Amino acid sequence: MTEQTETPKEDAAPVAAEVTARLNGEEHRFSCAAGDTLLDAALDAGVPAPCSCCEGHCGTCMVQLVEGTVIMEGALALSRRDKARGLILACQAVPTAPKIVLEYDW
Ligand code: FES
Repeated sequence: MTEQTETPKEDAAPVAAEVTARLNGEEHRFSCAAGDTLLDAALDAGVPAPCSCCEGHCGTCMVQLVEGTVIMEGALALSRRDKARGLILACQAVPTAPKIVLEYDW
């Protein structure tokens, strides 16, 4: 059963998180320090997460947030429909929940 992703409160604080990311048919697990973006944590762990601009503009890092909550500084590449589908930008997303599950193969 897939856990629903909750909409974080506006005052949600960044927290350290354990992250599971499914990418190209493989499952990767890594830690994300409080305040770090999911993309930075993935790249630091050697996970070949897609990225390009790293500024929230291009959408290359778009990923489905299956479990957990995040806050994003900017998400210009996300449409309202993308957000409704649970898509986030890994280069802008900072965890606000201790467990995060990402699906790149959506
Ligand atoms: S890498 Fe361009 S929006 Fe994240």
